[in-house]
Formats: sequence, C-alpha cells, structure tokens
Amino acid sequence: MAVDRGGIMQIYHRVAPLRQALAQARARGHTVAFVPTMGNLHEGHMQLVRLARARCDRVIVSIFVNPLQFGLNEDWEKYPRTMEADIARLEAEQCDFLFHPSETEIYPNGMADQTRVVVPTMTDILCGASRPGHFEGVTTVVSKLFNIVQPDQAVFGVKDYQQLAVIRRMVEDLCIPVEIVGAPIARDADGLALSSRNSYITPAERPRVTLLYKVLCWCRDEMTQNGRRDFAAVEEEAVRQLQEAGFRTDYVSIRNARTLETAAHDDDEIAVLGAMYTEGARLIDNVTLTLG
Ligand code: PAF
Repeated sequence: MAVDRGGIMQIYHRVAPLRQALAQARARGHTVAFVPTMGNLHEGHMQLVRLARARCDRVIVSIFVNPLQFGLNEDWEKYPRTMEADIARLEAEQCDFLFHPSETEIYPNGMADQTRVVVPTMTDILCGASRPGHFEGVTTVVSKLFNIVQPDQAVFGVKDYQQLAVIRRMVEDLCIPVEIVGAPIARDADGLALSSRNSYITPAERPRVTLLYKVLCWCRDEMTQNGRRDFAAVEEEAVRQLQEAGFRTDYVSIRNARTLETAAHDDDEIAVLGAMYTEGARLIDNVTLTLG
C-alpha cells in the first residue's frame, strides 16, 4: 500500500528529536528502513536508498564520518564531506529523514571511554589485519545507530563484504531486532565498484584499477568454469597478476561466504575478496559464487 510521505526530508542533528519523529512514524504503523553512511554519496548509496524505499514505508539515512573506525594514519580528516550535494541527492530520492549528528552527539563521553562492541576473530582477518581497530569502530557506531533509530531493516552495500558479514554476526550474537539487507555492488561501466574513496584515484591510474575486479572474476571463473579447488594456488596466481601490473596487493582470498573462514573444499557459498593499494587509494572489491 502506498504511504503518503507528507513532505520533504526532515533533517536531525540530535538524538532526542529524531527519536520523537521516528516514534510518530511507528505509531502510524509505518515500517522504517535505515541506511547508515559516511556521506559523499554516490549512485551506489542511492541504490541502497531505493532498496530501503522498496522495502519499508519510511527511509532514514545517517551521515556520520565516524572517527572511531579510522586508524591514526588513515584519511578521517581528508574524507570528503559533501553535505549540500548529499542533501540534494537524498531529497531527489525522496528520503524521509536524514540524521547528521556531531561527534559529541554520538560520543558524549568522549571516544576513549566509549563502551565498545567487538565481534571477535572475523574482524582480525582480511581488512581487519591491515586496519586494526577498524571493525570495532564500525560495530560500535552501528550498534549505537541501531539503538537510536531502531529500524525494522538496515541496508548495507555488499561492496564492503567483510563489514556486512561482521554486522550480520553482531546482530545475530546480540539479538538486535533488525533485518540486515545486503545491496548488490554498483559498478561503473568498466567494472570499478563505486566507492566514496574512488575520488582518491589519480586520473592516470583510473583506467588500470579495474584490474582488481577482473582478477577476482578470473578467480571465480577458475573455480566455476575450470573446476579448480586448489584455492591457495588460485589466490597466489591472482596476487601475481596484480603485482605484475605494479599494484601492491593487500590480499586476494577465497573464503566461506558466511563465516569468512578460509574456504574448505566442500563449501558451497564462496566469496572471493580482494584489496590492493593504488597511488591514491586502497581499493576493495569482491565477487561471490556457488560451487556445486
Ligand atoms: O560503510 C560505511 O559507510 C560505514 O562503515 C558505516 C557502516 C556507515 C559505519 O560508520
């Protein structure tokens, strides 16, 4: 049933009035879908918003560049903040609520003393190995945002595959009453996965960085078309292809799609995850496949 959305997007910076507005929506029987973001919104985010809109009566997006998930030498300060453009895009998508809190609104007792949410083991591998503390920052802020918004559903991009798996595990382990929805990866015409950090890629490198996706697809095809199950050898060859093209590789890894453990020969659902460094950016991508 179509719901009268009743006007333009409402923007909140504080928790209390946002909660009031969401309580009113729920009192009217509306379901709420939540899309947490760090802003600098692109078409990939818009696809998350559209999916949220298709699944629930009301859509809320948050924009918060969460300092807790950035390492000391990472890009928190230079992370692109494009608020006006973001608001215009969200209004064009008929988003109902935007939550754009300050750091003190989210961390009123300071970050050092903030209670943390930790998903063990699966956060120590892959991106977690090269970005220590990153996922702890993500799970802490996402659980806070879930408590603030109390959505029926929350939509995350499959692009951040490990993040999505970690959030699913957190929600399961902590019995958080929210349905987690994964949205397919949005790609440029040449295959590059859309990301807010793509703006760091230098123009000279831009045509070459699609190699990461091509190599992940090569891994997939080796398994699905050529029947290979020597996962470690496939990974090694993939890394070699990236290195020969001059890219420093963080990892190419074939994993159980749900647990992110190293893939076993009898695993059906597989994710191939990759991360590599370009001059300007660290890029991640993934492909998934089912083995018969
Ligand atoms: O994927 C992101 O943009 C962030 O990690 C998230 C989920 C909004 C938490 O800050």
